[in-house]
Amino acid sequence: MRIGIIGQGYVGLTISAFASKHHEVVGFDLNPAIVKQLNSGISHIEGVKSADLVDAISRGSYKATTNGSDLSNAEIVVIAVPTPLDNERKPDLTYIESACKVIAENLNGPALIINESTSFPGTIRNYIKPTIEKYSKRQLNHQFAISPERVDPGRKDFNQKNTPRLYAGLTPEATARTREFYSTFCDNLVEVSSPEVAEAAKLFENTFRQVNIALVNELAQISHALGINVRETLDAAGTKPYGFMKFAPSAGVGGHCIPVDPSYLADVAEKAGVEATFIKRANEVNLDMPKYIASRVQKDNGGSLKDKKVLVVGVAYKPNVADTRETPAELLIDALKDLGAIVTWNDPVVGVWHGVESSPLIGADIAVVVTKHHVVASEDILKSAPYVFDTTGKVKGAVQL
Ligand SMILES: NC(=O)c1ccc[n+]([C@@H]2O[C@H](COP(=O)([O-])OP(=O)(O)OC[C@H]3O[C@@H](n4cnc5c(N)ncnc54)[C@H](O)[C@@H]3O)[C@@H](O)[C@H]2O)c1
Repeated sequence: MRIGIIGQGYVGLTISAFASKHHEVVGFDLNPAIVKQLNSGISHIEGVKSADLVDAISRGSYKATTNGSDLSNAEIVVIAVPTPLDNERKPDLTYIESACKVIAENLNGPALIINESTSFPGTIRNYIKPTIEKYSKRQLNHQFAISPERVDPGRKDFNQKNTPRLYAGLTPEATARTREFYSTFCDNLVEVSSPEVAEAAKLFENTFRQVNIALVNELAQISHALGINVRETLDAAGTKPYGFMKFAPSAGVGGHCIPVDPSYLADVAEKAGVEATFIKRANEVNLDMPKYIASRVQKDNGGSLKDKKVLVVGVAYKPNVADTRETPAELLIDALKDLGAIVTWNDPVVGVWHGVESSPLIGADIAVVVTKHHVVASEDILKSAPYVFDTTGKVKGAVQL
């Protein structure tokens, strides 16, 4: 099949790598630097090997492009573009709209349009379909379906092949063609009765994590106030073989999904007249964790951080990836600066962040660990400052959250 994939980031490139083993894939992205790099066989995404790209390019089954007309003969188009929040933490569908425009203006014949980007129930039916129709000069009778992405970048045990994939089309034909496409590279397809169920399930998966992370972060604060070790408490609760799932306390939530997706559910809930109280409270607790951590560090250091050299260790939002989107390190740095500290950061996996290079892991008054990568040794973190506060539970010998 001839496949067009809009967006060549974490999701789009991962799908391109799997799909190009069986189909002819054109990866469309607005970023010319990424497109150039991909066409020279260099992957910018953890989990997509450059060697696989080189192989697909040499077989003629993959090319990246910034030119929308390269999508003109696609039989299937997959949308994998960002779905962030706007300044008011409301769904921002501008990238989806621009993807719809590219599709509408360039497809020559009817195609199956599948959305993999995360969004609220009703997005494919009430937003993507009408937007593509609005921008199309002639109506081509496209089919529409949803198959929300569940990729966890950097993860080794679950990938596109063995992660169960939800899907549903707006018509039985769209559903059948979606199944046909994904069954070429995914072993476990789960059909649901409507696109809205698939869209809602995706949002709920991440809302479940967001709420539980907030709950455990609240427990960390309660435990500290009561003089109880939160991680030992969680290990103890985790010995129950049923009815309990362990989550770990942290500096907050990061990445493109957990801090963002629940607000898509809250927004659509509010429009339907239901207040999403858990989601709102969970957001508040997680977003306040950096301030809580800064105040703990302040108390432990004589009640003042004024002019203290504080090193934030690990600014990626999770271990062993270079992704800093929505990282709680950002809020923590702000909170520490607000208390008068002179803040630098160290993260060899990220390397450069906001145009600034990672600082050496040495010579600070205080170190606060947000993310512990495998390549950064605990001994080196402990040597970086006389006082080390660890939010990860991985640096033994440091003051623990
Ligand atoms: N990253 C994850 O782990 C993950 C997991 C599941 C679902 N998702 C969802 O998948 C979607 C994509 O996320 P991602 O992590 O791949 O984002 P990303 O930022 O890694 O990549 C998006 C790419 O799309 C490109 N782009 C933006 N607008 C475009 C347009 N109009 N046309 C062509 N290219 C465009 C950007 O240049 C970028 O390269 C989001 O909805 C996200 O919530 C992400």
